[in-house]
Amino acid sequence: MSLLEVTDLRVSFRTADGVVQAVRGVSFSVEPGRTLGIVGESGSGKTVLTQSLLGLTPGGQISGKAVFDGVNLVGLDSRSLQNIRGKEIAVIFQDPLTSLHPLYKVGWQISEMIRAHDKSVTRAQATDRAIDLLGHVGIPRPRERVNDYPHQFSGGMRQRAMIAMAISLNPKLIIADEPTTALDATVQAQILDLLQRLQRESGTALLMITHDLGVVADIADDVMVMYAGRAAEKASKRDIFYRQHHPYTKGLLESIPNSSAAGGRLVPIAGQPPSLIRLPKGCAFHPRCAYVMDRCLTDEPALAPVGDAGEHRSACWLPSSALGPGPEAEDTRRRTVQAGRSGEAIKIAEAIAAAPESEGSVIA
Ligand SMILES: Nc1ncnc2c1ncn2[C@@H]1O[C@H](COP(=O)(O)OP(=O)(O)OP(=O)(O)O)[C@@H](O)[C@H]1O
Ligand code: SF4
Ligand SMILES: [Mg+2]
Repeated sequence: MSLLEVTDLRVSFRTADGVVQAVRGVSFSVEPGRTLGIVGESGSGKTVLTQSLLGLTPGGQISGKAVFDGVNLVGLDSRSLQNIRGKEIAVIFQDPLTSLHPLYKVGWQISEMIRAHDKSVTRAQATDRAIDLLGHVGIPRPRERVNDYPHQFSGGMRQRAMIAMAISLNPKLIIADEPTTALDATVQAQILDLLQRLQRESGTALLMITHDLGVVADIADDVMVMYAGRAAEKASKRDIFYRQHHPYTKGLLESIPNSSAAGGRLVPIAGQPPSLIRLPKGCAFHPRCAYVMDRCLTDEPALAPVGDAGEHRSACWLPSSALGPGPEAEDTRRRTVQAGRSGEAIKIAEAIAAAPESEGSVIA
């Protein structure tokens, strides 16, 4: 059984402008010791998806199932969720200052976290453990730095302290939400190395949310690409990078600076993500998709198996055999599109082709 099995999760928010459909029927699972990368542009629902699992989306209407270690988190009372949060599932955010209290010493915050979940631990024992943890995540001279306040740490050190706090209770799952976005490339690489080392040591499962495909390439085993609150494609990392099916995934790969997918050129994805209040009919990606066909305007494709192994899934009407950037797959796509396109779809495709690249979006 998977450690976390999420089925048809939906999260929406009522606002003055209408209902925001932030997560629209997402299913995925995470196995112990494995890393699932969740990627997608800003606003695609990555944070809401994971925070809703932990009861951290106040005002959100949640439905579906999220079974963690045998317990359905959806609809669980707040006290039980609080017990699971931190102890069983730890979260690392992009900005540690939102999680580290500025007025308390870093070491104290870690030791209090330990004591909050285990009253039998004395203050001195908890402090010793905090020092051990800070050393373990690479904070130099942890015995002295344990008494520092968060502002006395650099950005990278604060992120390490957050990770120390996250692993202090030996969680089974760590959710890392853009943990390295605010850091420079060298520190980012160190933090990713650290997470991987900790994962190897303890067999923790990791959900890595990022808009950076470079991070996914470094750390993920499996990848879920999100678009407008849904999974556009789900596959092993290898399939996502070399045999991708969904045009949005292809677009993401081509929008990486120096991407080999686009022959070294950075190609922005045309247009901008849609409003989650007024979603386009049919496939939500159709106003930006160079392969748009008639049926894409009216019918929303389900996430269905593509390729030959059942684990690779994509929500797109293109033929399931058209995988990757190779000329044969592109030929299949082009022939399908030619046969499946008339009237309105032709107009949309022409508008996309004519749109200036400068108005497109790049997520890396
Ligand atoms: N409390 C809320 N009320 C209304 N809308 C919300 C609320 N929280 C999130 N949203 C909306 O839900 C959508 C998904 O947001 P989310 O934060 O999950 O995106 P994301 O993929 O994490 O983006 P980013 O990469 O910028 O972090 C956005 O359109 C956001 O505006
Ligand atoms: S379903 Fe149609 S519009 Fe959507 S990604 Fe596939 S080809 Fe493009
Ligand atoms: Mg987010």
